[in-house]
Amino acid sequence: MLNTFQQERHAMLPETTHDESSRQEFVKSFKQYVQNKMLPNLHPAYSAQVAEFEKEHNRLPKDRREIRSIMVNDPAFRTYASANRVSQELQWESVLTSIERQLPELNAKAKELSAASGAELLIDPDFETPRYITSLDIHCMPGGYAGEVCEDDVSTGALYDRGVYLYAMGYMGPHNDDLGRSVGNYIKRNLAGFTPTKILDMGCTVGHSTLPFKEAFPEAEVTGIDVAAPQLRYAHARAQAMGAEVSFQQRDAAHTGYEDNSFDLIVSHILLHETSGKAMPQIFKECHRILKPGGVMIHADLPPFDHSDLFSEFILDNETYYNNEPFWGPMRDMDQIQLAINAGFAADQVSFDQAPMAILEFAAAQEKGYEEEAVAAVADREFEAGEFAPGGGWEVLIAHKSNEAGGNS
Ligand SMILES: C[S@@+](CC[C@H](N)C(=O)[O-])C[C@H]1O[C@@H](n2cnc3c(N)ncnc32)[C@H](O)[C@@H]1O
Repeated sequence: MLNTFQQERHAMLPETTHDESSRQEFVKSFKQYVQNKMLPNLHPAYSAQVAEFEKEHNRLPKDRREIRSIMVNDPAFRTYASANRVSQELQWESVLTSIERQLPELNAKAKELSAASGAELLIDPDFETPRYITSLDIHCMPGGYAGEVCEDDVSTGALYDRGVYLYAMGYMGPHNDDLGRSVGNYIKRNLAGFTPTKILDMGCTVGHSTLPFKEAFPEAEVTGIDVAAPQLRYAHARAQAMGAEVSFQQRDAAHTGYEDNSFDLIVSHILLHETSGKAMPQIFKECHRILKPGGVMIHADLPPFDHSDLFSEFILDNETYYNNEPFWGPMRDMDQIQLAINAGFAADQVSFDQAPMAILEFAAAQEKGYEEEAVAAVADREFEAGEFAPGGGWEVLIAHKSNEAGGNS
C-alpha cells in the first residue's frame, strides 16, 4: 500500500508499543485496501444491477434509495460493506488499547500542559450536551465524543486524534489538519484584504482544523468551541504541546452565549453532518447573529447529494446505514443555501465553492517540510466515491454578512 504521511508526534499523542503500532499500521493498510481496491471493484456489479433494473422497469433507478434496494443483496457490495464496517471497528479498537494502558498519565499530562497555557480552557460544569451527541457512539467510536470514564478525562480526545489519522489513512497530513489549512489558504487567496482578528471554529474536536487559523492569522484571537469536554481538554493540551495559543470553550454552536457581532470569521469543518435537522438551521442563525457586519461564515463539509452522481450518493449514504451517522444522508438533502438565507444572509452573498486540498499544493507542502514522497502519494491517488474530498478539494459553503447588518437576536 502507499505509504502516506505518518502522524507527527506531540506530547499528548498516546505512546504505542511495537505491537500496537503494527496493529494500527495494519488497520491503515486494510482501510486503503477497502477504499482503493474493493470499492472500485463494485462498478461492474453496480452496472449489472442497474442493467437488470432497467430491463425490468423500462427506466433507470431514480435515486440513491432505489440503488440501495437493488444493491443491498449483491454479494460484491455485501463483502465490501462488511469489510468497511470491520475496518472502522478495528480502527478504534487498535487505538483504544494504547489509551487504556496509559490513561492516568495522559490525563495528568493534559492538566499539566493546560496549566502552562496562556489561553483559556472553559469547561462548563452545567453544560447540557445535545441528545444527538450522547444518544449514540457516533461513527462507531466507543464513548462517542463526550463519553467520560473518570475525572478530567481526555480519553475520547486521544482516541479521536489517532483514530482520525487512521480513518483518513494519512491523507490529511502529519497533523490531520488539511481541512483547516485548506480553508485558511482559500480565504487568503479569495478574500483579498480580509484579515480577521477574531476567529471562531465551531465543532473543533481536538483542534486539528483550528490551529492552522492561528498559523494563517497569527495576530488573531482564535477560539475553538465544542460540546464535548474530553475533546476540549485534549485540544487545549495538544495546542500547548504544539506551541499554539488558542482558546477552547465548551459551548453549543446553536446557542453560543456570545454577544451579537463578536467575530470576523466563523468556520466549521465536518461539523454540520454530525448535528441534527433542528440544530443545523439554528447554527446558521447563530453564525449570522454573532458575526460582525462584513464578517464571513465558512462551513466545510461533504458536498450536497445533488453535486454528485448516483453511485457516489449511494456509497456516501452507507455512513448513514452502517456507521452510526444518522444525519449524514438527511443533511445532504437539506438546502443549505436556503438555510443561510433564512438565517439572515443575503441570497447573493451565499454560495458553494471548492477549497483545494492544501497537501496537494506542492510549494506550500514543501515549505511545511512535508516529505515529497508522501505528497506525491496523495497527488497520484484517484479519489473514489465516498471520500471527503472528491476531486482533491473540500466543499465549502461560504456566506458574507452584509456591512449594514446588526445581530438578529
Ligand atoms: C467530525 S467532528 C469535527 C472535526 C473537527 N472540526 C476537525 O476538523 O478536526 C464533529 C464535532 O462537532 C462537535 N459538535 C456537534 N454538535 C455540536 C454543536 N452543536 N456545537 C459545538 N460542537 C458540536 C462534536 O462534539 C465533534 O467534536
